[in-house]
Amino acid sequence: MSAKKKGVLFSGQFGFVIAAAGSAVGVGNLWRFPYLAAKDGGGTFIIIYLVLVVSFGFTLLVSDIAIGRKTGKSAIHAYEALSRKWKFLGILTFLVPVVIMTYYAVIGGWITRFMVDFIVGNGTAAADDGYFVSFITSPVSPVVYGLIFMVVTGFVIYNGVEGGIERCSRLLMPVLIALVVGIAIFSLTLSYTDADGTVRTGLQGLVVYLKPDFSQMTPGTFLKTLLDAMSQIFFSLSVSMGIMITYGSYVKKNVNLYRSVRQIEVFDTGVALLAGMMIIPAVFVFSGMEGMAKGPTLMFVAMPKVFAAMGPAGRYMGIAFFALAIFATLTSCISVLESITANCMEIFHASRKKTTVVLTVIYCAATAVIALGYSVLYCDIPLPGGGTGQLLDLMDYISNSLMMPIISLLSAILIGWVVGSKCITDEMTLNGEKFGRKRLYNVMIRYVVPIVMLILTLQALGLLSWLK
Ligand code: PFF
Repeated sequence: MSAKKKGVLFSGQFGFVIAAAGSAVGVGNLWRFPYLAAKDGGGTFIIIYLVLVVSFGFTLLVSDIAIGRKTGKSAIHAYEALSRKWKFLGILTFLVPVVIMTYYAVIGGWITRFMVDFIVGNGTAAADDGYFVSFITSPVSPVVYGLIFMVVTGFVIYNGVEGGIERCSRLLMPVLIALVVGIAIFSLTLSYTDADGTVRTGLQGLVVYLKPDFSQMTPGTFLKTLLDAMSQIFFSLSVSMGIMITYGSYVKKNVNLYRSVRQIEVFDTGVALLAGMMIIPAVFVFSGMEGMAKGPTLMFVAMPKVFAAMGPAGRYMGIAFFALAIFATLTSCISVLESITANCMEIFHASRKKTTVVLTVIYCAATAVIALGYSVLYCDIPLPGGGTGQLLDLMDYISNSLMMPIISLLSAILIGWVVGSKCITDEMTLNGEKFGRKRLYNVMIRYVVPIVMLILTLQALGLLSWLK
């Protein structure tokens, strides 16, 4: 195990949990979860999601964090320390944040631009059809905002683990929670009368969000919902991408890992549920079911429309909403860059400050390229799951849809069948702590995770499209 110097560790359990929760809570919770819940039958999706979080999410989170703390290293060297022959898995894992980082600051830049719009009183223009598209297709503004976001991220990483990452998370996460709870309560109090006299209320929207709808369920749609929930869990918990291995390597040996994992699960899932409660009733009240747009448009098109319909209060709600989104995105973006930085420091035996500066320059260039993927560098790239996408979608597809299930599959084989799950369970009970769900962990890592990850990989390759 590497000797970690002072200041290269989280201060304790709270510092670790708040930083890990900062990584986990991001745009995935704010727009992806509510959108999937709306699409996959409300409460049905939520029930399936909850069951999967405490089984799959838990297993993957435990594996990553325990590997990190046990080896004291980041992905590449951590997998090598477990088994020399499996270093390739470390390299593959390291590549996920390398790819994600090319586009994460671009999304952060979009959010920043929208917040600035609401601050300067330009919020009603942001609600116009075509505003979002005309913004991202312009060649200058998205690049400038993306670069600002990238440089701020680099600055936090430059200041180290406790002084940068932990301090930033301690500051932003409580504000984030207060904002999400406040906006969710406000959403439930809304009411709107349509031109044809139909009245829609926030509480009706809450029913749309929470009530399970089994009426449309077939074996095909059930499997689809299961797969949607699974891929959301990867993304949302930041697992199978080396990030939690890196954060795990900064955890002191006396910290109770099981309790930390439980707190991260609750934090991340709680914010996702609250985000749904904030967004779905609001969109339902002002735009009906048709407003539940797909993907980024929910955040950048549907929500500005909601704020515009609120009247003068909308401007302030818009500022609060986008501030919340910036905090969530920044703490996630930080974890992506930290994972790359930590691996590079180990590979090149370089200092944190030097590594951060070099990586920030490289990723500023990458951010500019991806941001220009909607204007100067526009191209329509066919994706295996059907449809086409731009550069950002391609990077997202490679990292999230393709690499993550393959990595989870391989790491489950490594832990469950090659080195044995005892190396993880021993780390979880290092100080004699109770490891609840230990039997569940053993069954999941050996049998369930490999099979489901194989199915997810086939789906990502477009080989399950025959399922109706
Ligand atoms: N977990 C973050 C979210 O739910 O938005 C997303 C994320 C963070 C993805 C960090 C990838 C990552 F490397």
